[in-house]
Amino acid sequence: MSEDSSLHIETLAVHAGATPEPATGAVSPSIHLSTIFERDADGGYSRGYSYQRKANPSRGSLETALAVMEGGAAAAAFSSGSAATATIMQTLARGEHVILPGDAYYGTRVILNDCLTPWGLEATYVEIGDLDAVRAAVRPSTRMIWVETPSNPMLKVADIAALVDIAHAGGAICVCDNTLATPVLSRPLSDGADFVVHATTKYIGGHSDVLGGAVIAREEGARFERLRHLQHALGAVPSPFDCWLALRGMRTLALRVRAQSTSALELARFLASHPKVSAVHYPGLESASGHAVAARQMSGFGGLLSFQVRGGEAAAMAVAARCRLFTRATSFGGSESLIEHRASIEGPGTTTPVDLLRVSVGLEHPSDLIADLKQALA
Ligand SMILES: Cc1ncc(COP(=O)(O)O)c(C=O)c1O
Repeated sequence: MSEDSSLHIETLAVHAGATPEPATGAVSPSIHLSTIFERDADGGYSRGYSYQRKANPSRGSLETALAVMEGGAAAAAFSSGSAATATIMQTLARGEHVILPGDAYYGTRVILNDCLTPWGLEATYVEIGDLDAVRAAVRPSTRMIWVETPSNPMLKVADIAALVDIAHAGGAICVCDNTLATPVLSRPLSDGADFVVHATTKYIGGHSDVLGGAVIAREEGARFERLRHLQHALGAVPSPFDCWLALRGMRTLALRVRAQSTSALELARFLASHPKVSAVHYPGLESASGHAVAARQMSGFGGLLSFQVRGGEAAAMAVAARCRLFTRATSFGGSESLIEHRASIEGPGTTTPVDLLRVSVGLEHPSDLIADLKQALA
């Protein structure tokens, strides 16, 4: 289907990129495993496909659906969120400069620090909520402002429209990692961002069983063409089965994310009132520094939150160990609730407080989750 802006996100999630197969009438899409496609007698490719790494029907359906969900012109799918991040950054040239939040996802900082700055990109980390600090960091060579809102795992909120203005005034693009908010809660392209990045591994896949990523462009143009070329040339592409799983997950995205947001707010309020908790990081709390921006920019506050436990690292580890319904595992966005001691998985240079636990709120009843946290904190 083509984008119809009058449709709600729940409807788009169900119908985007979905058409019964012309040959069979199959309503659920087939998984096209073929790596190769027949050429025409004259050597052409009139059916649009030649080799799986370049394009294939399963990836095409996912890309169409993601573009519709984000209100973009086109999307490119990758084998992980990290591959999507690395590839959009590789559309920049040596000597070009990126501004990023100091608390961007740890892996995003690893991509910059360990992989791309050695290849000649320049990076400055700033407190992205401090617009004066962002303006001060802009250089003549700045070509990208990277936004992650809310951020992982500190749940800080950035003002997308304000950052877009700063980026565009300086001749840069604004790229927003929308993994935590999802298109259900936040529409960065409508706020003026040029590209949206997703780890579809999280809420879009939604069941902790598929790794994937995507870049969605507000407009097609030279940079998106370059990205397409790098997707094909560097080859960090998802398998057809992974595309099918991500698309299947996306069909229920809106319902899952809304339920998880509602439950997360209840959990955040419970934790904020608990004497053993020294801080709760969740933009839905009125006390959160980013609450006003989040309330304007988002239609819900998401299913991820983090909190700090009085007593330091050992006390935090002990709380995680006592949880019964929350599984101790990394990642987020699945149907099951997770709890994670974040600093110890991030590794060298982590800036995450050692007493912090990150919680991915799943689809269990919130009262059961609160009861579990209550006994774990007792
Ligand atoms: C905000 C954010 N962006 C990108 C990624 C990278 O995704 P992946 O693990 O699929 O590479 C993650 C992973 O946790 C993330 O939290």
